[in-house]
Amino acid sequence: MKIAVIQGPNLNMLGIREKHIYGPMSLEQIHEQMKASAEQNNVELEFFQSNLEGEIVDRIQECLGEVEGIIINPAAYSHTSIAIKDALSAVNLPVVEVHISNIYKREEFRQKSITASASTGVISGFGPFGYHLGLISLMQMITEIKAVQEANDSKEQ
Ligand code: DQA
Repeated sequence: MKIAVIQGPNLNMLGIREKHIYGPMSLEQIHEQMKASAEQNNVELEFFQSNLEGEIVDRIQECLGEVEGIIINPAAYSHTSIAIKDALSAVNLPVVEVHISNIYKREEFRQKSITASASTGVISGFGPFGYHLGLISLMQMITEIKAVQEANDSKEQ
């Protein structure tokens, strides 16, 4: 099973930026932890971070036929980007949107996520552990999708 992990703008600054909100862990450390639990479950992760909206759209499009699901923290673009929402809808893969902070108890402009409407589920407010929760949830979703597909395939034969 292959999963893409896509990180939006300023997440490369984790561990430095607003530690009282996002905590002390760097993005690399978060990815190392994810890699460890993915390996235990025979899952391959492909990590990508960009500060540029178009690059994130390109990366999402590349996921088609390459991975079985996406974990994404679109960061500030969650609140503004119809382009990222449309790209997620276009590839039609299971998607978990992760936010380190609880966006629903922050400024009003953060309380709406445009991209969440193209996501299967959203995890928000559990700190970096949210990525782990995202990984577990996505693995489960992909397993269920595959089971349904296999059942349908065997009915057709
Ligand atoms: C964030 C929340 C966003 O509002 C913010 O712009 C971020 C990080 C989070 O993970 O909590 O950059 O997505």
